[in-house]
Amino acid sequence: MCGIVGYIGDKPAQSILVSGLEKLEYRGYDSAGVATVVEGNLDCIRAKGKLHNLREKIEVASNRAPIGIGHTRWATHGKPEEYNAHPHTDTKRRLAVVQNGIIENYRELREELKQQGHEFRSETDTEVIPHLICQCFEDGAENLMSAVQQAVHKLSGAFAIAVISADYPDEMVIARQQAPLIIGIGEGEYFCASDTPAIVQYTRTILPLENGEMARLTRDGAEVYTFDGAKVRRTPHSITWNPIAVEKQGFRHFMAKEIYEQPAVVRTCLEAYLDLDWTPGSNKSPFKLDLPESIYKDLENIQIVACGTSLHAGMIGKYLLEELAQIPTAIQYASEFRYSPPPLTPNTLTIGITQSGETADTLAAVEIEQSRRKDKEPKYYSRLLAVTNRTDSAITRVVDCVIDTHAGMEIGVAATKTFMGQLMAFYFLSLDLAHRRGTITVDRMAEIITGLKVLPSQIEVILETQEKYIEELSHSFLETRDAIFLGRGINFPIALEGALKLKEISYIHAEGYPSGEMKHGPIALLDAKVPVIAITMPGKVYEKAVSNAQEAKARDSHLYGVVAASDKDAAEIFDKVLPVPDVDELLSPVLTVIPMQLMSYHIAAMRGLDVDQPRNLAKSVTVE
Ligand code: F6R
Repeated sequence: MCGIVGYIGDKPAQSILVSGLEKLEYRGYDSAGVATVVEGNLDCIRAKGKLHNLREKIEVASNRAPIGIGHTRWATHGKPEEYNAHPHTDTKRRLAVVQNGIIENYRELREELKQQGHEFRSETDTEVIPHLICQCFEDGAENLMSAVQQAVHKLSGAFAIAVISADYPDEMVIARQQAPLIIGIGEGEYFCASDTPAIVQYTRTILPLENGEMARLTRDGAEVYTFDGAKVRRTPHSITWNPIAVEKQGFRHFMAKEIYEQPAVVRTCLEAYLDLDWTPGSNKSPFKLDLPESIYKDLENIQIVACGTSLHAGMIGKYLLEELAQIPTAIQYASEFRYSPPPLTPNTLTIGITQSGETADTLAAVEIEQSRRKDKEPKYYSRLLAVTNRTDSAITRVVDCVIDTHAGMEIGVAATKTFMGQLMAFYFLSLDLAHRRGTITVDRMAEIITGLKVLPSQIEVILETQEKYIEELSHSFLETRDAIFLGRGINFPIALEGALKLKEISYIHAEGYPSGEMKHGPIALLDAKVPVIAITMPGKVYEKAVSNAQEAKARDSHLYGVVAASDKDAAEIFDKVLPVPDVDELLSPVLTVIPMQLMSYHIAAMRGLDVDQPRNLAKSVTVE
């Protein structure tokens, strides 16, 4: 969380920094700031709130300094006020620092530094860094690089920092420990940023720093070192994705655009992972996931770690892996797994799912699995797979292999198209495993593949026929304070996802339950003010799910049904019906999630809320 950006070159830095911060706003948007070096002094401008407040201040007092750093904040320590906004400076305002992460030992450092005479002006953990670097100079550090180097040795926690100094106007020093940081290489100009979108309009050549590395950026080059001072040689690489994809392209919000991109995500996954010429009875595998054989060999167990929406995709993944490939699959919140991992099981594949590729809890869970299996006998060795759309992200450097979900960059904080890509990854993985293990008949395989191929056009049908209706329907949620989402079997995770989407962007309290659980407690919440949105798709649990929905209606709840288009009884059972095309129950989450996304989107938009940047959230959760 938080986004940092830096520039050194021959152009005015401020506008480059602000345009970079604009692309990083998804990482946090409580406050923002930039610092530049002008005629031997620091010029530090900060503003509370969204980036436009900072931009207004900069327009009044702009300068042409060709070096600077910028920050957009998601508050961890200290309220989102201007005095807590980055960059932070030392007492004499000669050094400016931006940071993403958390300095865990900041309390001790702060006390020590105060006793040494440093004056603190904020409540943040970050402010210790400029004072500490200043202290390193007082203790004899010879230059900016060595002062920062000495300082980072005293910091504990996860951090990415960028430092400039009024006394060293031609260089910037950056350092990374467990938080993302990349260098962008231009012609006679260098950038640093938390993520590629911040700099992709200026350069497509990047060099990601690894943990425990720091760099000195000047107009002549980027020198990379370890924290211990050893020089590191690494080859930069090129970014291949298209920066246009991170524009709104006529949609009112990124979230709307991303909902509409879902048919394309499914199509791209079909093209990437399915042999479209495969015919039932052919000896060839219909799948081309390109995973190493070591992933499959003697596979006995799967465990999935993820957070939030990615966890919901994993829950559907568990269902598919067990149903189709008959592999016992456990799923755990990554934040729980990291402190209470289950006993080791042999021949186990661990899957980390993450759209950002840098969620701290998910990364830590995967890393723990790697380290605790290292010295064990071979059947306990780790096998690590990441499911992500960010194939250049931190998690891909930890795991053995990756399934690219082909969803591209997602900007709206509420995950939509990345969830869709994650679902696709699990369809292909579980079908591939089922094929290899012989746990599926040829006819069933053919049936599912046929179903998969029509999903993109079925999603398009929902978008075309339902969006206007759902937009109108959203008005009935104007006064709603609580809502309940119900689903069973493979659609239970969609109920959870519907509730998460609604609460995160509409601020309506919402809970998802397995329909059958209502009578064990939550039904007590129901009355005419609490709408219930139930998913009742034909299949194994249809009758049961319908009965559970009716139990809610009997308690006066207004009942919305996400149902199959052919369901003739739906109009009688539900107050409002949200039909999706008829579909195999196993594939139904791909369709039932669409009305959920549209509902939460329109309810939030109708309430005039900031759909793409809901309060208190960030797209990339790099803190614990
Ligand atoms: C909800 C949402 C979050 C993320 C969660 C994990 O719309 O986006 O719940 O799913 O923070 O993030 P990633 O997938 O980046 O690990």
